[in-house]
Amino acid sequence: MFLDALWAEFSKIKGNRNKLFEFHKKLRGLTFFDPACGCGNFLVIAYRELRQLELELLRTAHTTGQLALDVHQMIALDVDQFCGIEIEEFPAQVALWLADHQMNLKVSEEFGLYFARIPLKTSPKIIHGNALTLDWNDVLPAERCSYVMGNPPFVGAKFMDDDQRADTRAVFDRIGNAGLLDFVAAWYVKTARYMQFAPSSLRGRAGERVKSLPSAPPSSLPTPSVRANRSVRCGAGC
Ligand SMILES: C[S@@+](CC[C@H](N)C(=O)[O-])C[C@H]1O[C@@H](n2cnc3c(N)ncnc32)[C@H](O)[C@@H]1O
Repeated sequence: MFLDALWAEFSKIKGNRNKLFEFHKKLRGLTFFDPACGCGNFLVIAYRELRQLELELLRTAHTTGQLALDVHQMIALDVDQFCGIEIEEFPAQVALWLADHQMNLKVSEEFGLYFARIPLKTSPKIIHGNALTLDWNDVLPAERCSYVMGNPPFVGAKFMDDDQRADTRAVFDRIGNAGLLDFVAAWYVKTARYMQFAPSSLRGRAGERVKSLPSAPPSSLPTPSVRANRSVRCGAGC
């Protein structure tokens, strides 16, 4: 997962003060988007693990004397790096604030200074709505998105209700034989289109698959293959 790459990058640069500082800035710049986020589980785990990485970074900087420690200023990662869409009313926002509080307590324990973010000033951006009809750029502009993740819903073509069928038909617009595809494929198509405008580092990982899904393929084009994008992570619910 993306965390492995970040940990590997951290291991390489942890002896270098300037690089450590730059890496910390990079972590703060990352954004995470789950367009079927439910109660926010994927976002919460990603946040908790990133805070863990940040904690290790601060520990390293502290023990090697690279950091004059003012914990309040040093904790850079925050819940506002996380965005989601969910059709049901789940409290994903609250789940992220709880994860934030737990990680703040861990920081307090580690450095012996009470660290809390109260009152809450920052917030994750969780939209209660239909991911298949919303423009994802209104939630998080693609050019600012680092990772799309989640486990969108699977519903076989024969089992979709009328609303789901209408939503997928609109997304699959002119993709041949799309009526046979599972509901989840609509997320793959939307992700691929969205990521065409993502930072080049992200597009580079997704490669040709993104190029194979133009926003509205003319019917004369061969049917694009709809495959899970590397950045769409499938969890236990799949
Ligand atoms: C497999 S669950 C993902 C659960 C999530 N990862 C979590 O940890 O809670 C799929 C989620 O997609 C949501 N969903 C279904 N159709 C949707 C739609 N059109 N737009 C947004 N979310 C939708 C469901 O309500 C459900 O929460």
